[in-house]
Amino acid sequence: MASLTIRKLDDAVKTYLRLRSAKNRRSVEEEVRVILRELIEGREEPLTPFSAPPAQSTAPTPQRTGAAPEASVTLIIGGGIAAYKSLDLIRRLKERRVEVRCVLTKAAQQFVTPLAVSALSHERVYTDLFDPQSEFDAGHIRLARGCDLIVVAPATADLMAKMANGHADDLASAILLATNRKILLAPAMNPLMWNNAATRRNLAQLQRDGVVLVGPNSGEMAEAGEAGVGRMSEAIEIANAAERLLRPPVPKPLAGKRVLITAGPTHEPIDPVRYIANRSSGKQGFAIAAAAQAAGAEVILVSGPVDLDDPAGVTVKHVESARQMLEQVQAALPADIAIFAAAVADWRVANEGEQKLKKTSAGMPPLQLVENPDILATISKLTDKRPPLVIGFAAETEHLIDNAKTKLARKGCDWIVANDVSPATGVMGGDRNTVHLLSRKGGEIAVDSWPVMTKEQVAIELVAHIARSVTDKSREPAS
Ligand code: C5P
Repeated sequence: MASLTIRKLDDAVKTYLRLRSAKNRRSVEEEVRVILRELIEGREEPLTPFSAPPAQSTAPTPQRTGAAPEASVTLIIGGGIAAYKSLDLIRRLKERRVEVRCVLTKAAQQFVTPLAVSALSHERVYTDLFDPQSEFDAGHIRLARGCDLIVVAPATADLMAKMANGHADDLASAILLATNRKILLAPAMNPLMWNNAATRRNLAQLQRDGVVLVGPNSGEMAEAGEAGVGRMSEAIEIANAAERLLRPPVPKPLAGKRVLITAGPTHEPIDPVRYIANRSSGKQGFAIAAAAQAAGAEVILVSGPVDLDDPAGVTVKHVESARQMLEQVQAALPADIAIFAAAVADWRVANEGEQKLKKTSAGMPPLQLVENPDILATISKLTDKRPPLVIGFAAETEHLIDNAKTKLARKGCDWIVANDVSPATGVMGGDRNTVHLLSRKGGEIAVDSWPVMTKEQVAIELVAHIARSVTDKSREPAS
């Protein structure tokens, strides 16, 4: 196979390669390999004449989802009969969109071949500490830190002893000593070795050092007639344990809570083609809906006309006018939390034309306005189905806090999120918001001013406050 001399490339190409490889935490040589592979895999024509030789192994072929990996693991394969399960582990990790770079100890190579491991991982396999190809740029440091997690499977008694005592006389132990990433060990050894006082001491030390364990399981040993604790966990168990460390479950503080949200403007018809509207984009309300959904809540979003995609996992009721919005809000009750972020038109046209109004010589048609129902006030003042926490918004162009305090009292809600929407702030239709959270505290109104944030950050912060409040019994009920 021809080799490529990086030095002979154009400067621009070299710079690109250096930047790309640094960004991806790979050596330049590896980055070139990845680029070539991407190029070949992206081709329309079949790969057959150029594909890698089939591995001399009966191991299952990994699933190629084509999706970019989301995490990376350095997998250290120790020398034990269980090493064959590591071939399946590579496949299981790749199925979970984890990039796997493998290191084989000397003993591991007695059980699995670098060729099989490389064919499954689609990466080169690392075996030597003093490998000129990878050590010219401190390859063991890259393998130790250029990943999100280190998995050792099988973790033999010898590897555990080396780790517990800080040895670094081969590539595997040097990586384990040089890493600042979490380490997951899947021990595999004979039950007598597992129960040996030395292994127990090493294990206790490793656990104190923060190493995470999966297994070992109990069962039959490879040695005829032997059974006990020491069998390496199955590949799927190790992959699941790795996934829990790579993607820890997101806390769901609003699980079991029903959250009702209004968002966007309303359109109040003048005639079948014209309406009164405002500049609300709906972004803040939609961001709150997404954040509440991510926090585990069941979310019903009642939205006026907006140019936004429905947030995933949220029930969205699309409406036009204030009266339709009120109808949908009432239909969605009961709820644990109601957040009224919509910019509801205060007035609608009383004499809405059934046909399109015509220009006449008699002058402009008189538009009579009547007040719209105040959805926030209506729901806040309910006696039976009032949600325990009702939050309103106050979009003001002057005297922000004073007006918001008055609104809190007048509307009867529990909290008000006040924001300055004067044109200079760019809040209306923009992506950022500066808000103040007003809440009732022992007969007083507390004002919590937040720094300027994106509307998504405001939503996350508000949901975090809500989550704390629903678990905090000290929250005073609305007066
Ligand atoms: O009175 P103002 O429109 O400033 O009050 C703003 C708050 O009241 C917002 O939470 C808004 O969603 C809500 N509101 C409402 N129904 C209206 C007017 C305002 O729910 N008709």
